[in-house]
Amino acid sequence: MVHKIILKSQKKILKNIFMVKVPYFVPEISAKEISAVSKVLNSKWISAGKILLKCERKFEKKLKVNQGHCVGVSNGYSALYLAMLLAGIKKNDIVLMPNINFVASMNAAKQLDAKIKLIDSESAFNPNISITDLKKKLSKKVKALVVMHYGGYPCDMDELLKLKKKYKFTLIEDSCHAIFSKYKGKILGSFGDFSAFSFYANKNLTSSEGGMLYCKKAKDVSKAKILKNHGLNTNSFLHKNQSFHARYDVEQVGFNFRLDDLRASLLSSQIDNIEKKNYLRFKVFLEYKKNLKENKKISILFSEFSKNEFSRHLFVIKTNFKKLLEKKFKKKGISYSCHYKPINQLSVHKTKEKFPNSENLFKTIISLPIYPGLKKNKIKDICKIINSI
Ligand SMILES: Cc1ncc(COP(=O)(O)O)c(C=O)c1O
Repeated sequence: MVHKIILKSQKKILKNIFMVKVPYFVPEISAKEISAVSKVLNSKWISAGKILLKCERKFEKKLKVNQGHCVGVSNGYSALYLAMLLAGIKKNDIVLMPNINFVASMNAAKQLDAKIKLIDSESAFNPNISITDLKKKLSKKVKALVVMHYGGYPCDMDELLKLKKKYKFTLIEDSCHAIFSKYKGKILGSFGDFSAFSFYANKNLTSSEGGMLYCKKAKDVSKAKILKNHGLNTNSFLHKNQSFHARYDVEQVGFNFRLDDLRASLLSSQIDNIEKKNYLRFKVFLEYKKNLKENKKISILFSEFSKNEFSRHLFVIKTNFKKLLEKKFKKKGISYSCHYKPINQLSVHKTKEKFPNSENLFKTIISLPIYPGLKKNKIKDICKIINSI
């Protein structure tokens, strides 16, 4: 009976998805990318192998970091979890992180039994981590700080690096939104001791599911490679080339956080095109800005970031008429989202602490559709609704 009800509601959801006039996101997979995946399928080697290795090297070049310092993993969460584990986080260690973020960092730190302190957003217009609140909560006892570059817009890296020098915490960048965004000319995700990327379906780069971990120190790369593969001191690609090796052993209590050649082939092919795709997102950003410029009832987050050097993962407006707008979007079949419900308001992570800026943001922000293939006429339709409130 319950199963039948679930199936019925799934059917309804699917029907609604196809009724939507403007989806929130549409992944774009080119013929070249499909052909790259087919090639791997036909090669008879689909698990982690040389395609993944090539893809990691390609990613490092874009990130402008040392060769051999990126490790492909199964998703953004596993990259974050490994980063925390390699940072040595264990029971009761203090970890700071933003209150406005996807829940992955919080879950990872909780899995490690860390003591988590949440930090408010910079302002009611900027969801990135507040340096003022951070300074209040920092001490020499803090083991790690996680920052997330919201929508691909940089946190205040100069201030964060100064604080890192003073307090000596491990800096972990959640760079899942920031595919090759820049801060003062340097690529985000290359500042921290560790950095995590997600290649989930709605990300600027996708392999359907997938992730990348960047480790500043070479010794952490070696550990990550072992931990992501059950703790084994070998992998099946080496087996293929060397047959069973006599020193086969399990050195760590590991995980299965692997990324395979099939997904890596899609990712690798997408990396070749990322500048063009990010540029098309920039054009979407400009088009929204143009269509909304007379509207005094909304403001656009990060609208002053006018150069083409950000990933533009999100396009977020802020309005006191959020509920009304949501109603209108639903009626007209416009999909939207909200990034994010503050972590301290999620049932499983609830706290009574006050975070005025994140609370204000949650009440007032709406994420609008943004993707390279979003056409001007659709943007106009969306803006027409926004301009009617
Ligand atoms: C900011 C942020 N952090 C972490 C994650 C987790 O990535 P994944 O879903 O690949 O585990 C996501 C993805 O949704 C994200 O947007």
